[in-house]
Amino acid sequence: MSEQTVVNPQTMENLVSLCKRRGFVFASSDIYGGLASAWDYGPLGVELKNRIQRFWWREMTQLHDDIVGLDAAIMMHPRVWEASGHVESFADLMVEDTVTNERFRWDHLPEQNREQMVSPAGNPLSQPKEFNLMFKTHLGPVQESSSVVYLRPETAQGIYVNYKNVLQTSRVRIPFGIAQVGKAFRNEIVTKNFIFRTCEFEQMEMQFFVHPSEDEKWFEYWKEERMQSYRRMGVRVDRLRFHRHGPDELAHYAKDAFDIQFLFPFGWQELEGIHNRTDFDLRRHSEYSGKDLTYLEDATRERYLPYIIETSAGLTRSVLMVLSDAYEEETIAEGDVRTVLRFHPELAPITVGVFPLVKKDGLAELARDIERDLRADFTTFYDQSGAIGRRYRRQDEVGTPFCVTIDYQTRENNTVTLRERDSMAQQRVPVAELAARIKQAITEYKRTGT
Ligand code: GAP
Repeated sequence: MSEQTVVNPQTMENLVSLCKRRGFVFASSDIYGGLASAWDYGPLGVELKNRIQRFWWREMTQLHDDIVGLDAAIMMHPRVWEASGHVESFADLMVEDTVTNERFRWDHLPEQNREQMVSPAGNPLSQPKEFNLMFKTHLGPVQESSSVVYLRPETAQGIYVNYKNVLQTSRVRIPFGIAQVGKAFRNEIVTKNFIFRTCEFEQMEMQFFVHPSEDEKWFEYWKEERMQSYRRMGVRVDRLRFHRHGPDELAHYAKDAFDIQFLFPFGWQELEGIHNRTDFDLRRHSEYSGKDLTYLEDATRERYLPYIIETSAGLTRSVLMVLSDAYEEETIAEGDVRTVLRFHPELAPITVGVFPLVKKDGLAELARDIERDLRADFTTFYDQSGAIGRRYRRQDEVGTPFCVTIDYQTRENNTVTLRERDSMAQQRVPVAELAARIKQAITEYKRTGT
């Protein structure tokens, strides 16, 4: 399916509107009319983003004892980007509609438009020209060529230049990995589809250093492992697939590459790249820095430049993936449609909503006490306004998997109603068992719905 294929524009429109209305994502500098391609994450959005990041970090560093973490600076020595090949080759081909001046990425235009050199509006296109995607600025008050710095277009290079530091200061031996989450910047020719492609975004990258003879084995391992990780995250299996890069798609550093693609409302698109970067990066950094970056195998005394298998996921893009995977408009009865975000409970920004049936007769105070107790284990939200049905719907819309209602019976026998988001099923649960029951439900969670 091509970049242009629109699968369900309505879903995208409704999702964007929900994100703004409920505080997931706002346009950057909203009061000034917004800034194209930059977005701010609101109270619920930042919770969701942090949870996705935490899930990834746990999968990578806690569940793999051969991977350690790093947090390198965004600004790096300018020679890094010469060595990496980004100054020379990190460019997209750009064309312009000669009538409307609208810009397009050459590789994103349908074949027919490229052959006929016409824009989607039917106007003549300019000749393709190269456009480097790196943001360039200057360090210090004097703008001379020696003060040039770039905003990093990928987090990976921070890992390569620290590879020796990590090797010398931690107990890792090859094969091992270094994981990092952070901002990256690209002056994209066309930014569209909300937070899908932006100029400022976040990446979750892991670079795995291996013996050159084992590159294909580890490439296969990480390809499968990353796909399984999305499944563990609760993403629908039929919305994920692999796409292998053809020779014309491969990045300048890659010997082999697969994308994990997700079926967004606007079509199949890349979510994460798995790349066999060979020894390209370490070789180049060795040449440009003059430093020996070879690895000495303890047992065999073999000295070699490790190959690198990279897993490179977009964090902000994953936020859009999780939102679109979770979003549903469900018809409950004729004329009654509820909007529900079926987040995996571990990713949901709020885990438990707590409501008193009414504010009076001490129920509000009782509900406050129960909510306070739950805070030790879960992110909670207290709401006492409006009809109970409306309160449930408000929580469905932001993906809260559990709601607890405190009513008159609570005063009598210390039980509450526990309502589950996806099935809307309600059961009576003793307050003393509430936290344990919710934890169990999170562990056993299986997505239902369409
Ligand atoms: N270090 C390798 C690398 O950066 P990439 O395929 O260019 O590879 C990896 O990017 C991931 O980063 C993509 O799969 C995507 O999720 C995310 N990404 C790349 N450009 C992006 C952009 N302009 N906006 C949002 N996410 C982006």
